[in-house]
Amino acid sequence: MMTHEKLSDGGDIPMIGLGTAGLQGDKCEQATKWALEIGYRHIDSAWAYRNQPAIATAIKQTGIQREDLFITSKVWRDYLSYEKALRQCNEILDQLQMDYIDLLLTHWPCNANVRSAKGPENVVPLEETLAAFNEIHRVGKVKHIGVSNYGIDLIKQAQEISAVPITVNQVHFHLSDRNCSENVSQTLVDFCLKSNVVMTAYCPLASGWCPAGGGILTHPTLTAIAQNYGKTPAQVALRWIIEQGVTVIPRSSSQDHLRENMEIFDFELSETDTARLNTL
Ligand SMILES: NC(=O)c1ccc[n+]([C@@H]2O[C@H](COP(=O)([O-])OP(=O)(O)OC[C@H]3O[C@@H](n4cnc5c(N)ncnc54)[C@H](OP(=O)(O)O)[C@@H]3O)[C@@H](O)[C@H]2O)c1
Repeated sequence: MMTHEKLSDGGDIPMIGLGTAGLQGDKCEQATKWALEIGYRHIDSAWAYRNQPAIATAIKQTGIQREDLFITSKVWRDYLSYEKALRQCNEILDQLQMDYIDLLLTHWPCNANVRSAKGPENVVPLEETLAAFNEIHRVGKVKHIGVSNYGIDLIKQAQEISAVPITVNQVHFHLSDRNCSENVSQTLVDFCLKSNVVMTAYCPLASGWCPAGGGILTHPTLTAIAQNYGKTPAQVALRWIIEQGVTVIPRSSSQDHLRENMEIFDFELSETDTARLNTL
């Protein structure tokens, strides 16, 4: 199995990255350092996570060359106007102490159909946001652009508007996803695959704020399947995602879990087991 997925603009993105939401300060620095030492080369961050300086420090300490890394960041949804997006991108670069970001995403959509943090009067047209992202790309501050938390209609709109390809849609997706999200489903996976947009699964281990997700790693079907492969439930949960051509960004602050989550490229789920997992 490939360790990278091709992007529609000719680049590629590692199949696995380190998720960093909620990791801050020393904890973030340590987790990032361990991850890089283990072999992770993709770090997923965001302006809103307030941890980019810690990530920058960890990268410096490992001495890994910038060109060997794939760094994702995101512009927060209250900063999607042209000027604010340009300014936030500069802030992200300052915090990461980098000249460019590999992948810049709009963190959440901001349009009339989607809840905006500050109400409908503050909605920014997608044209304006994407004009800013195209400009950031034109001046070389970002290699690839993408979106996050977009459904099919919004992706189609973005593709029509943007001169620069929309390469990635980062969304909530995991084994029990159908229970807790109307927006993200197998239909979205199929759409992204067909339209050359790489889908990245966040919350791939179903942790945290997804109400239906808690406890997926102890599901008896998943644990039984994992045992047959000599793998852990987390490894099978991640493998189920990447076998669909979807990239993953699991977060961990544990060195053992970080290592475990990387060891998902040396086995393959049988058709029967995939079918069983599809029904969880
Ligand atoms: N674009 C967006 O709107 C958006 C939204 C949410 C998240 N994200 C991104 O997606 C990343 C991942 O999502 P997430 O952090 O919510 O959740 P997640 O990766 O699904 O789960 C993280 C949790 O799983 C545990 N874990 C990790 N590896 C494990 C293993 N092998 N076995 C057992 N438990 C394990 C971690 O605990 P330990 O620390 O103890 O390992 C942590 O509590 C975020 O960090 C962020 O980068 C993006």
